[in-house]
Amino acid sequence: MRILSVTSEIFPLVKTGGLADVTGSLPKALAPLGIETTSLIPGYPQVMQQLKSAMPLVTFENLLGEKASLLHTRVEGLSLFVLDAPALYDRPGGPYVDEDGIDHPDNWRRFAALSLAAAEIADGVLPGWVPDLVHTHDWQSALTSVYMRERGCRTPVVLTIHNLAFQGQYPAGVLMSIGLPPEAYSMNRMEYFGDISFLKGGLQTVDAITTVSPTYAREILTPRFGMGMDGVLNARVSDLRGIVNGIDLDIWDPSTDPHLPRNYGVGTLRRKRENRAVLLERFGLDAGREGPLFSAVSRLTWQKGFDMFADTADEIIRHGGQVIVFGQGDREIERALADTAARFPGRMAVHFGYDEPTAHLIHGGSDAIVQPSRFEPCGLTQLYALRYGCVPVVSRTGGLSETIIDANDAAMSARVATGFQFHPVTTDGLRLALRRALHAYADPKMWARLQNQGMKAKFSWERSAQQYAAVYANLVLKSGHVAS
Ligand code: ADP
Ligand code: GLC
Repeated sequence: MRILSVTSEIFPLVKTGGLADVTGSLPKALAPLGIETTSLIPGYPQVMQQLKSAMPLVTFENLLGEKASLLHTRVEGLSLFVLDAPALYDRPGGPYVDEDGIDHPDNWRRFAALSLAAAEIADGVLPGWVPDLVHTHDWQSALTSVYMRERGCRTPVVLTIHNLAFQGQYPAGVLMSIGLPPEAYSMNRMEYFGDISFLKGGLQTVDAITTVSPTYAREILTPRFGMGMDGVLNARVSDLRGIVNGIDLDIWDPSTDPHLPRNYGVGTLRRKRENRAVLLERFGLDAGREGPLFSAVSRLTWQKGFDMFADTADEIIRHGGQVIVFGQGDREIERALADTAARFPGRMAVHFGYDEPTAHLIHGGSDAIVQPSRFEPCGLTQLYALRYGCVPVVSRTGGLSETIIDANDAAMSARVATGFQFHPVTTDGLRLALRRALHAYADPKMWARLQNQGMKAKFSWERSAQQYAAVYANLVLKSGHVAS
């Protein structure tokens, strides 16, 4: 079976978060199941720079008014179509924001063009390569199915919601400029509280909707987590399911990780100490100090709950520990964290930035990883934490609630606990969970058991890839559409 995956980011070429990890690792997991994926991505500068050899396949003279060409290449086992459209993608900054962190003003056009190119491929613009099914991810590629249905292309489409907070909401006036008819502005298409929503357009026109954990699949049907889209989702509930993300076990493996000064495994956890020393030094903390090291690698946003961590990190220090926070996000939350760190020189460090090797080192050298998210579709950092022998302290929501087993009495005696969960998701809740974790740390046997159980937990893609394969197969069968 041949799949066209359409995504605004993919690891290792361009990544701002978990979406890239998933779109970069799922194709490899699907390959052994006989599913061949090619991913369509925008030709951002960082993508174009990494292309060693790329075959031009077709040129669009007028893709929403711009000249664009489609290239094919292979990078680290991934088969890629790159949409080279300099007017849309060749600019400084990241995939979504400029150098000052402000959204590119024409994101609607940049991602509509990506979706339109995907629809062209689905509709046969590349005679030698027509997909059996199209898989879109989040709002940035959600218009693919809208364009496909407009032109009568019936190829099945699956849309995965990675984060419902981002919906691609724009004034209805842009419809004409993205080549869609005025009728698209209707309740059962893209109309959304007086605007249009790219995500809604996708949700209304795809054959199946998935999201990245069964719990989040249930949560988004409620007004609290539905972010205005719960009505649309309830109407499609029979086509909605949650499939939990896996992790790439080759990239996130403490026994081979090239970013760690010292590699280790379940039987050699003591070696983490060497990474810890390097890590503490790197962050300007007192490397000679014993005691727990609690860290966080995350977007520093309201979703991720780091305002609550700014108010509770003192708990760790008061128990003789140290704290590292690495990430970037909302200015106010960054400032609150920096203010807390300033109160504890040598004991708490907050560094702003985005750097893959540093993220690995933090997992390789810390005792615990804190992720106090207010909502979390799946979450990957807690899974990396488990694999690296860090004990996760997480809120009980979305994917966090089903990937971490709380260290309550029953779970401890059954020897299945892997971390600490708290609910309700409040500052007090977080403080209590930190306290529980710090008490557990004081009992080396208990802590070692938690680490051990976490490291043995299974989060490979195998099971989830099979679930995606079943969704694909079911739709292809139903549609009777076989392109290859
Ligand atoms: P989200 O996609 O919502 O940000 P996930 O937990 O699914 O959350 O994925 C986050 C990914 O981004 C992980 O791979 C994590 O290691 C990475 N990440 C987050 N912040 C940073 C950072 N400051 N530097 C490097 N990697 C980061
Ligand atoms: C989103 C979610 C995160 C999820 C990731 C990959 O960014 O916030 O929870 O793990 O997508 O699916």
